[in-house]
Order: sequence, then C-alpha cells, then structure tokens
Amino acid sequence: MVEINVNGKVALITGGSRGLGYAIAESFVLNGASKIIITSRKQTACDQAKETLEKLGKDNGKNVEVIPIACNIADEANVEAFFKEVTSRISKLDILIANAGAAYGETFFKHPISAVKKVLDLNVVGVFHCVKLFAPILEQSGNKDDPSRIIIVSSVAASVATDFGGTYGYLASKAGVSHLGKNLAVQLGPRNVNVNIIAPGIFPTKMSKSLVTNKKTELVDGNPLGRFGQLSDIQNSVLFLCCKQSNYINGISLPIDGGLYLVGTKNLSKF
Ligand SMILES: NC(=O)c1ccc[n+]([C@@H]2O[C@H](COP(=O)([O-])OP(=O)(O)OC[C@H]3O[C@@H](n4cnc5c(N)ncnc54)[C@H](OP(=O)(O)O)[C@@H]3O)[C@@H](O)[C@H]2O)c1
Repeated sequence: MVEINVNGKVALITGGSRGLGYAIAESFVLNGASKIIITSRKQTACDQAKETLEKLGKDNGKNVEVIPIACNIADEANVEAFFKEVTSRISKLDILIANAGAAYGETFFKHPISAVKKVLDLNVVGVFHCVKLFAPILEQSGNKDDPSRIIIVSSVAASVATDFGGTYGYLASKAGVSHLGKNLAVQLGPRNVNVNIIAPGIFPTKMSKSLVTNKKTELVDGNPLGRFGQLSDIQNSVLFLCCKQSNYINGISLPIDGGLYLVGTKNLSKF
C-alpha cells in the first residue's frame, strides 16, 4: 500500500484563509503536516483559519501548529516584512503554495487599466516575489529523494482563449504565471525544489461567485464532466504533488477542471 502524505512537513499557503487555499490547508492538516503558515490580507481571517484548522487537527488526532500572519502579497514592502516574520518563526520550509490571487471582470471598453495592473501585481509579481524570497530556505529543506515543493495556483484561463467574463488582466496573469512556473522548475529543480502548476477550472468560492451564480447552466453543461470542481479535487491533486512519491514530477501544469481546458467556455461573452 502506498501512503500519500506530507508527514512532518512545514507548509506556507498564501491566500490560505478561505477558498482553495484553505481547502489545501485542511488536507495538509489531515495528512500529517507539522506546521502551516497561513496568510491573507486580514489578520482576523488568518486567526480564524488557525482556530478552525487546529480544531480539525485535534478532532482527528493530528498535532499541527498553524501560524497566522497577515500580508498583502501585492505589496513589496509588506512581503519583505512577512518573509522576516515567517523565517523568525520556522527553522525549515518544505512546501510553498502560491495561491493568493484576485480577478476582475468588466467589458472590454470599460475595463480599467488600473484593474489590469492590480491583478498582475498580485497574481504574477506577488508570486515571483514570494518564490524569490523563500527559495533559499526551500532549497535547504529539500533533498534528491524528497525535494521541497512549490505549487503555483494558476487557472484554466491560462490556456483557454474563450471568454471568462471579461477577466482580461486575470487571464493574462495566469498565462504569465504558468509560464513563469515552468521556467522556475528548470531553475530550481537542480536545487532540490520541484515547481509545479495547477490549473483549476471553475470552483465555487468567493472569487468565482458571480460567474457561478450568473452562468451556472452554461458552465456546468459546457463541462465534459457536467459539474463544477469540488474542493476535494484540489485537495487530492495538491497532496499528491507535495508527497514523496511525486518526487520526479517537475514543471507540469495540471488541469483540474473536468476537461474544460479541451473545450473552453461558451456563451459567457463580456466584450
Ligand atoms: N475559484 C475558482 O474557480 C478558481 C479557478 C481557477 C483558479 N483559481 C485560483 O485559485 C486561487 C484561490 O482562489 P479562490 O477561488 O480560493 O479565491 P478566494 O476564495 O477569493 O480566496 C482568495 C484568497 O486570497 C487572499 N488574498 C486576496 N488578495 C490578497 C492579497 N493581495 N494578498 C494576500 N492574500 C490575498 C484572500 O484573503 P483576503 O481577501 O482576506 O486577503 C483569500 O484568502 C487564486 O489564485 C485563483 O486565481 C480559482
């Protein structure tokens, strides 16, 4: 029997206070992580995540410490301060989940340039900044047999050219960060840090609320598997990409979308 786990691992999850990031944290709690650093812009949301995640661990006989530290990943100075705070509280880091992200949807001619810049600052620049700062400590923690891992949370929107509700900056940011991830896999792989990308389809969260509510029929009927993603779909895939058994997987972009990347979206147009 092969047991997939992250036993004893220390993980950092950006945007871990809710949605996909929180779901990944839950899976790490239940599958052996020893410490999880959770960050989002709001300290109270991070504190609340600590409370519920540690309770989940306790209720399931797991001993895990959750460290909640607020940080705006799009703010350069804030990320530098966050890095100092994190590294003063941990002695190793095995897993970085670069998950914090934002989207903005508006028709083409009304789409503000400021919104495109804001999305790129978080979804691309923020990811690069985190990887740049944490790469040395990840390198120290990894070895050939069980490298450290970086998972970049991109999107199906990175590869599908049909419309995702007028999210122009978002789809550019996700295509950019996916390509960045592949280059980082080549650069960091020899340093015992594997870098992989996940490309989720549509998962009901705060971010996707408007699409999921207003375009439910189009999105569900248009998906080869006829449903939205479930949090367990993300949890299982990320757990696998972070466990010892996937140590030879480096630089992939894994669609987790029921096959949406093959067919694209229909009738969402927001030109
Ligand atoms: N849901 C989907 O269908 C879907 C599909 C494809 C890809 N994704 C990707 O999955 C990732 C997570 O999205 P989600 O659906 O879970 O969205 P979500 O529910 O809105 O969660 C986003 C998380 O990121 C945090 N965050 C937002 N802006 C931040 C900032 N500037 N600095 C630090 N943290 C920030 C949020 O907390 P605060 O707001 O308190 O800061 C929250 O914890 C994103 O990268 C998204 O692009 C989602």
